[in-house]
Amino acid sequence: MHAKVTAHPRFTRARIDDRLYGAFIEHLGRAVYGGIYEPDHPSANAHGFRTDVLDLVREIGAPVVRYPGGNFVSAYNWEDGIGPVEDRPTRLDLAWHTRESNEVGIHEFADWCDAANIDMMLAVNLGSRGIDAARNFVEYVNHPSGSYWSDARIANGRAEPWDVKLWCLGNEMDGPWQIGHKTAEEYGHLANETAKALRAFDPSLELVACGSSNAEMPTYPEWEATVLDRCYEAVDYISLHMYFTNYADDLRDYLALSQKMDRYIGSIAGVIDYIQAKKRSRHQVAICFDEWNVWYHSTEQDKQVLQGSDWPFAPPLLEDVYNFEDALLIGCVLNTLIRRADRVKIACIAQLVNVIAPIMTETGGVAWRQTIFYPYAFAARHGRGTVLDMDVDVACYDTAGEANVPMLDITGVHDTDAGTVALFMINRSPDDALSLDIDLQGFGTARLIEHQVLQHSDLKAANTASRPNEVAPVEGESLACEQARLSGRLDPLSYHCVRIQVGATTAA
Ligand code: AHR
Repeated sequence: MHAKVTAHPRFTRARIDDRLYGAFIEHLGRAVYGGIYEPDHPSANAHGFRTDVLDLVREIGAPVVRYPGGNFVSAYNWEDGIGPVEDRPTRLDLAWHTRESNEVGIHEFADWCDAANIDMMLAVNLGSRGIDAARNFVEYVNHPSGSYWSDARIANGRAEPWDVKLWCLGNEMDGPWQIGHKTAEEYGHLANETAKALRAFDPSLELVACGSSNAEMPTYPEWEATVLDRCYEAVDYISLHMYFTNYADDLRDYLALSQKMDRYIGSIAGVIDYIQAKKRSRHQVAICFDEWNVWYHSTEQDKQVLQGSDWPFAPPLLEDVYNFEDALLIGCVLNTLIRRADRVKIACIAQLVNVIAPIMTETGGVAWRQTIFYPYAFAARHGRGTVLDMDVDVACYDTAGEANVPMLDITGVHDTDAGTVALFMINRSPDDALSLDIDLQGFGTARLIEHQVLQHSDLKAANTASRPNEVAPVEGESLACEQARLSGRLDPLSYHCVRIQVGATTAA
């Protein structure tokens, strides 16, 4: 099978906002306790954070992390997490049926973000609480001094405000499971009023309104239309969430699911355009895809905790063990986000550590990279710059749910400062190698810098504590760059990250 691709520096889609490669950490399962925070762990630093986990987080280089939830935030009192740790209350977390010690609150999480070199994106509770708690939290986090909450922060040991720009107005408020679930009209009104209050404090904040929890919700996409109708001018982003499953164990269907995400983005972009036109507005709301990942491996085993009668502290929850085919899909999903970078400005893999995560830990033991770590880290590290609008000529296949799924999923990102092009490619075909020919002549010259390949003979192969490198990238040898053409072979079911040094571009 052949794939002919043409890339040219003048044909571009959008400049990527680096926050497209964000992450998410929720007070859920072992994400915080036993994940990022474990004071008794041999690698723990003076703040109690695991440095082995910090190293892996820094290796990814995610620019922003959403916190503290998720479903958790809808009954969370942010004040429970400030002040002397020994005085903090233990609460029942109604979202995940566990106990929350509040040992980690905003100060500790901010310290962790500093160490991880990552910005915070904070969510306010619009479920059990509302405008008042939200405005107080923002004042605590962002006001320099001389007010009740800013002075409380200073008294609690932090002189400088954290100056967090990005705020989520609740989480999944369309979901009947959510504490304080609301109708679209109710939520749209509350989001608008909360945004007004937060903007009265600081008009430069970036605010995210909740979109639907997923594209199967009965209220989707009317939810987005109604919510945006009520708060369009007051917010900057509408959130989207999507989780992928392979219960039917059908590889062709599974690898086609990124197209579903593409349609989801397209539909919500259409809703945004409709409301913008209806309001005769010049304001542009963008998409914040702040939860996406594969999530299904752990659902059965989690029922015990979620439906149990006790309230365990930091039990293993949502601990999906990802296999090689998951990594292939995640490569396609990231490519979708990159291709849609004209509308999707922020996205967060859900989540980062232990809970449906690229990084896993044993409490008291080792930390390792799951299979999905690799496509995520490659994209986060190298997918910075301008998305190329490439011409791709390759065979497609159809599934029950999707039509025209290309055998080659490819994106290219041009970093004009560094003079490099990064290519992210997945051969979706289970049977055929792809003979690849990419014309890069518009870039003048092209020299192969790096070719990393993720491949495994067993689709279900996974990394574990005892076999952490079962699925790991190796240097590729099947591609070569000559006369500004990249050509060679992509094996069936393989993922590739290629970096190319490009020369001076041709004149316009
Ligand atoms: O990421 C896990 C959960 O998925 C989040 O808490 C919630 O927002 C979503 O339903």
